[in-house]
Order: sequence, then structure tokens, then C-alpha cells
Amino acid sequence: MQTKTLNLETISEAAELIKAGQLVAFPTETVYGLGADATNETAVKQVYLAKGRPSDNPLIVHIADVETVKKYAASLSSDALKLMDAFWPGPLTLIFKLKPNVLSPAVTGGLDTAAFRFPDNQATLALIKAAGVPMVGPSANTSGKPSPTTAEHVLHDLSGKIAAVVDDGPTRVGVESTVLDMSVETPTILRPGGVSKDEIEAVLAHPINDEQHHVGIKEVPKAPGMKYKHYAPNAQVYIVDQPNDWPAVARWINHHPQEIVGVMGTDDIINNIDWPENARVVSLGADVQSASHRLFDELREFDNHSEVKSIFTQAFETTGLGEAYMNRLNKSAGQSHFDQQMMENAD
Ligand code: TXA
Ligand code: MG
Repeated sequence: MQTKTLNLETISEAAELIKAGQLVAFPTETVYGLGADATNETAVKQVYLAKGRPSDNPLIVHIADVETVKKYAASLSSDALKLMDAFWPGPLTLIFKLKPNVLSPAVTGGLDTAAFRFPDNQATLALIKAAGVPMVGPSANTSGKPSPTTAEHVLHDLSGKIAAVVDDGPTRVGVESTVLDMSVETPTILRPGGVSKDEIEAVLAHPINDEQHHVGIKEVPKAPGMKYKHYAPNAQVYIVDQPNDWPAVARWINHHPQEIVGVMGTDDIINNIDWPENARVVSLGADVQSASHRLFDELREFDNHSEVKSIFTQAFETTGLGEAYMNRLNKSAGQSHFDQQMMENAD
């Protein structure tokens, strides 16, 4: 199959493909998604096959109006209505209990809940409206790889496996939506993302829970997707926790002249160090916003340079968007840090 590249002008062609049960990747403000008609079970099953995604990992249902959520959700609390009003369209995904038998188990992974998202992207909202059906949409990457933030990333992973990609340039946020479970007594963040806990609590005027701070390392996370290997480039990522650690990173690279080593940090850090010749230095911009916007793109770029075996990447504080950035970085590093032992190796 030849994968077509479409855009806002040719959105009716994308809608015809969705209606015909084909897969079409679509842009959002967070990352690109892999779209299929959520009401067509055969099409939804193809999404799992194209991604190589485990079938117990439920999909987000993308909608272009609140009415569609009302059609599927068993009920909407006043908290839910407040959040939709404040953040939709935008990077907040809400999980609701479903009415019985309204969505295929292929969408829900057999759960009695489903995740709903109203993306902030004109082309995709036009696509959903023109297709006239809600659209499932996991991130449009091969399972395990960093999520795609450009149409080129989508084509790299899925060219020939899907009918089309709607190209709307690079995404704005760069990390996925916040997944908030509204089917429990106290709303609970299952995945940090583009909307922060503080922003949600400010709208609700009461505290919410954050699963990351309650689930022990051996427990199964409630968002099934969070238990799988994620966001991993071919090279080993090491997290550099403190700004003061960077001179030691430069020394470590200097002491390993036979290796080509990746470095990702903000301008204030990378511009103040005299990097050895074997360092491949990449800017994460000025702050956590630009770092989140670039993280997946730069990790993918290192996959084009197979000589790079290690990538040292800057940590941020886990407040605001930093929570989502660090969640993704921790997963791509598999918890590896530039630690005491490596520091000693540098001296
Ligand atoms: O920004 C995003 O959310 C992107 C764009 C394309 O919209 N989509 C995305 O989808 O990141 P995906 O499938 O890669 O991640 C969805 C996450 C997974 O961890 C999944 O397990 C969880 O949401 N999830 C979906 N439905 C759920 C449910 N009913 N209960 C608990 N977790 C759920
Ligand atoms: Mg994903």
C-alpha cells in the first residue's frame, strides 16, 4: 500500500478513507495519532496490527463535540463538565464509565470505561466532522518508539502500512495528553501530560489524585499502556539530574574518546561547556516547554546515527509540564541516570 500525504485542503479524501475502514494518521496539538473509525471493529483491530500494540491496551476515542461523549458516557459529573469547559479542545483526556455495549471491546480493551479526547487541531476536527464518526487514535508510532511529532516520523514508522497521513507540520506540545480517570471517586491522573495537575485543581477547586505517587513499582498501573516499554531510542539514555553534573558529563565523554556520545540540554547549559570532539550536542531550547516540544524528535534523530550509543539528557523539576517531560524521559532511559559511579569514571 502506498501511504498518501494529505492536508487540511484534502481533508474530505481523508474522511472517505476513514469511512471506508482505512487507517489515517492525524495531527493533534500533542503528537500525531493513528486514526480509524471507532465504530468499525475491523478497522480498530487494524490499528493494533499496524502499531504492533498489545491488544489489552485500550485506545483513546477522539471526538469533535461534547454531544458524542454524552451519547457514550453513563453520566457526566459537574467536575467533568467543568474540565471539558476549561480544557477542551486541548491536551486533557477524560475517562468515563460507559453505557453498556456502546463501544467495541477492541476500543476499550474489555474495560467498562473509555478515554475521550477533544484535540485542538483544525484539520483533525474537520476530519472527525466530515467522517461523521468518533476516531480511535493511539500515538502513530511503532509500539515502544518515541511518539511522532511530525508527519515524517509517522511515515518513518508506518509508511506502506496505513492509507494516509494528514500533514499539519510539527505538533505544538510534543508530549501526549494528560489522562485523567473520572470514573473513580476522586479524579486521578493516570498519565501526566500537556495539562498539569495544578491547572486541573485550579479549575475544580479541590485536590485530585496522581496515580504515579500511589502505585508501587511492582503494581500494575491502571492505564494499561503505562506498563509497556516506551519512548526508547536505540542508544541508552542517561538522565543528568543536576545542572552541576554537566562538567562531569563532559569529562566522562572526554575519557571515552572511542565513543560518539549524544548530549541534550538547554542552551544555558550546553553553551557554557567546552565539549570534546566526540560529543554530538543538541539543544533543548530555553526551558521545559521547548524541551518537551523537541524531546521525541531529537531522540528519533539519534536513531539515524547508529554510531551514538549513549545519550546524556537534562532532567527538569517535576512541576507543571516538567511532570510529563520527566515521565517520558524516565521511560526512555529505563531509569538510568548519570550516577556516582559514572562520575568517578569521569575523573
Ligand atoms: O495526546 C495523546 O493522548 C495522543 C494523541 C494522538 O491524541 N494519543 C495517545 O494515545 O497518546 P496512546 O494510545 O498512545 O495512549 C493512551 C493511554 C494509554 O496509556 C492507555 O493505556 C490509556 O491511555 N487508556 C486508554 N483508555 C483507557 C481506559 N479506559 N482506562 C485506563 N487507561 C486508558
Ligand atoms: Mg503511545
